[in-house]
Amino acid sequence: MSRSGRDPVTRLKNAKGRTASQTRWLQRQLNDPYVKKAKADGYRSRAAYKLMELDDKFGLVKGSRRVVDLGVAPGGWTQVVRQRSPQAAVVGIDLLPTDPIEGAVLFQMDFMADEAPDVLMEALGGAPDLVISDMAANTVGHKQTDHLRTMGLVETAVDFACLNLAKGGAFVAKVFAGGTDPGLLNILKRNFASVKHAKPPASRKDSSEWYVIAQGFKGRAEAEPEE
Ligand SMILES: C[S@@+](CC[C@H](N)C(=O)[O-])C[C@H]1O[C@@H](n2cnc3c(N)ncnc32)[C@H](O)[C@@H]1O
Repeated sequence: MSRSGRDPVTRLKNAKGRTASQTRWLQRQLNDPYVKKAKADGYRSRAAYKLMELDDKFGLVKGSRRVVDLGVAPGGWTQVVRQRSPQAAVVGIDLLPTDPIEGAVLFQMDFMADEAPDVLMEALGGAPDLVISDMAANTVGHKQTDHLRTMGLVETAVDFACLNLAKGGAFVAKVFAGGTDPGLLNILKRNFASVKHAKPPASRKDSSEWYVIAQGFKGRAEAEPEE
């Protein structure tokens, strides 16, 4: 109970029983041109356009043969990969269930679990030439905790990419405000010929989300630190 004597949660709810932030989210969804477009174009998420825009700019998907999609649900990115590179085998993982997508093997599993990399690699049957991560940790509202959890996901994704990518392969990951932290950026720069950051137009301007795009993986042997 607040000092005014009103219950704060009840105060936030509107007539239909939604909180103020749920109402704001719903209004934004309903008015978002990308949401409408995704529905009309048959994509499961507006996020699909982010990958299309990154692909148009950096040339990531076409010609790829094995792709790993980290944080795959509901499946927009994998739909784009299958469309733009129909021959590609895709393996995806998410904490949430993902409805089946033809040509993709989808796991409902925590990517941070020890066994996850082996499960993904076994299903893929060979080195990926593209690892994409749109993973975002559920925010708890504590800025430092949220930042650390997201960085943990990105770090684990970078490790996975550097251990498994085929030579010449590419890595894309969602990062947050300020881009990739300096330590991680160094690892990427050591292991890839080109490392860039981009915010595709479909990424909401008021979101701190950016993407890191690393291309031209140098190969595992060259990636070993010097003695
Ligand atoms: C923005 S959504 C991905 C949208 C997707 N790229 C698309 O186009 O449909 C982020 C996803 O990351 C997933 N995620 C977060 N942490 C994860 C983890 N530890 N392991 C697997 N998936 C995770 C969430 O469950 C969520 O579905």
